[in-house]
Amino acid sequence: MESLLAAIWASAALATPLIAEPLLSRDVVTCPPTYTTKNGLNFTSYCEKNNPGNDALPPFLVSSMQECMEHCSRYWGDGEGCFGVVWREDQNCWLRTSNTTSSNMIDDKGIHAALVVEGEMDPLDTKCPETDLSIHTLDGSPGIGYTVHCGKVVTGFDTCWSGYPSCLDAPYIGFYHATSLEDCLQNCVKEHPLCRGVTYNPSLKIGFANCWPKTGFGNTLQNPDTTMGVSHSATITSLDRIDSTCPSDKTYDASGNKAFDIQCGKVNAGTNITSVHMQNVTSCMDLCASSNNGCVGVVFDTSLASGYENCYLQNTTSVMSDLASGTYALLTGSSIPKSSSTNVPASGTTEKKSSKAWIAGPVIGVILGIALIAGAILFFRRRKAKSAVAVAGGGFAEKGAEGSYAHQQAPPGYGHVGYTGAPPPMQQHGSYGAPSELGGSNVTELATGEYNQSAKYAHHGAGTKAKQEPQELA
Ligand SMILES: *[C@@H]1O[C@H](CO)[C@@H](O)[C@H](O)[C@H]1NC(C)=O
Ligand SMILES: *[C@@H]1O[C@H](CO)[C@@H](O)[C@H](O)[C@H]1NC(C)=O
Ligand SMILES: *[C@@H]1O[C@H](CO)[C@@H](O)[C@H](O)[C@H]1NC(C)=O
Ligand SMILES: *[C@@H]1O[C@H](CO)[C@@H](O)[C@H](O)[C@H]1NC(C)=O
Ligand SMILES: *[C@@H]1O[C@H](CO)[C@@H](O)[C@H](O)[C@H]1NC(C)=O
Repeated sequence: MESLLAAIWASAALATPLIAEPLLSRDVVTCPPTYTTKNGLNFTSYCEKNNPGNDALPPFLVSSMQECMEHCSRYWGDGEGCFGVVWREDQNCWLRTSNTTSSNMIDDKGIHAALVVEGEMDPLDTKCPETDLSIHTLDGSPGIGYTVHCGKVVTGFDTCWSGYPSCLDAPYIGFYHATSLEDCLQNCVKEHPLCRGVTYNPSLKIGFANCWPKTGFGNTLQNPDTTMGVSHSATITSLDRIDSTCPSDKTYDASGNKAFDIQCGKVNAGTNITSVHMQNVTSCMDLCASSNNGCVGVVFDTSLASGYENCYLQNTTSVMSDLASGTYALLTGSSIPKSSSTNVPASGTTEKKSSKAWIAGPVIGVILGIALIAGAILFFRRRKAKSAVAVAGGGFAEKGAEGSYAHQQAPPGYGHVGYTGAPPPMQQHGSYGAPSELGGSNVTELATGEYNQSAKYAHHGAGTKAKQEPQELA
């Protein structure tokens, strides 16, 4: 009884900051005069103005105007991307089609419009950069060989990449913007888990997020859906050969009087500071020893399953586990910071979960769960009662709103985006949160015995990310 009370208290104390977190966005400027999204799309704002009409899709809720623009920069619509937003202070976000202009802005309190800077959604050079099926190397990435597939797309093989600031559902799954196929590949080689290719859409018909890293590729590449415009793909067809022998000496003296204890066949869940591509564990340890970023240990993955950047520098130690293709080396001597055994995202976001939080976590979970279910029941009851009114647009009925709602019921073009999943150019729906599927396709392609096992290593990270991050923006 006492412990239950204690747990409830703890959860109450903890629940406040947890629930309050989204409100941090109150510190964010309500209507910034200009804004650049995380993938590089620039907006100009029209504060206290509405820009009615030209809905790309029905409004949805996001906590800030900035989040509304972030969604716009990742939107893949009906044969085009997003060209502007309207955000209202009750958190409704509208995305605008290419027909939107600055000419019909209407003064309106508590509502803010923004338009993509002129020209930034214009098509890029759509010419295939290389001869079809020719093979190339990538600057700065030794050992990588890629094959160019002009006018083709890789269907499926999407995941929530570690480089994405957050993972969203369709139609906002993509993130990267690239200005060339090679530029797109440069995003690919930095990714975790291993990226095996890209589809690049210079015509920007799939939106500003026109560079899609892929976890694999099938035997044949596909022709794009006609609404996608021009796409080219590159598949990584050779990777560096990694020295997979674990040193026979179990200690290693690196430069600067630093020594490492080496554990073969192990990985450690410590906090990743960064990852770099290395051919052998020795050079990985040398890098750790010579860096001044607090590196206390390295995980070296000879399989590359978690990414081409296979030497992970860590600044904490945590739980060790077995992985045939892994090597763990820990700096000896100095006192080493420990991180809790709960999974910490590689990107090193919020990380300091105390053991109390760990105990209270499940309790909060249960309480939140009950609250959510209750909330959902209430919500759906009300919604049922009110839906007719709501669809009519309430107070903010914008011109054309009804038309766009109609869209949703009978999506002519949305189908391909994943609403129906019909001829999916990049099978977006449900690919998140199901990393095991992707692993499967990877395994067949690399066809090494080790790979299967190390794929788990990759999933470990991908799985937690997928679970934690989608909440962020929603
Ligand atoms: C956004 O603005 C920055 C700074 O002017 C510029 O460097 C960048 O190229 C712009 N983005 C696009 C997509 O044009
Ligand atoms: C833009 O407006 C034209 C003319 O009304 C219409 O035919 C077209 O479908 C619109 N485009 C979009 C993307 O809504
Ligand atoms: C470890 O590195 C991460 C990412 O750079 C950083 O956020 C964190 O504060 C570091 N932790 C320690 C104990 O130095
Ligand atoms: C490790 O790789 C580096 C290049 O990355 C190379 O110079 C070095 O000789 C290699 N060391 C061993 C022990 O193979
Ligand atoms: C460190 O990076 C690897 C590879 O991406 C990942 O599997 C692992 O989960 C990361 N570690 C943490 C604590 O996030």
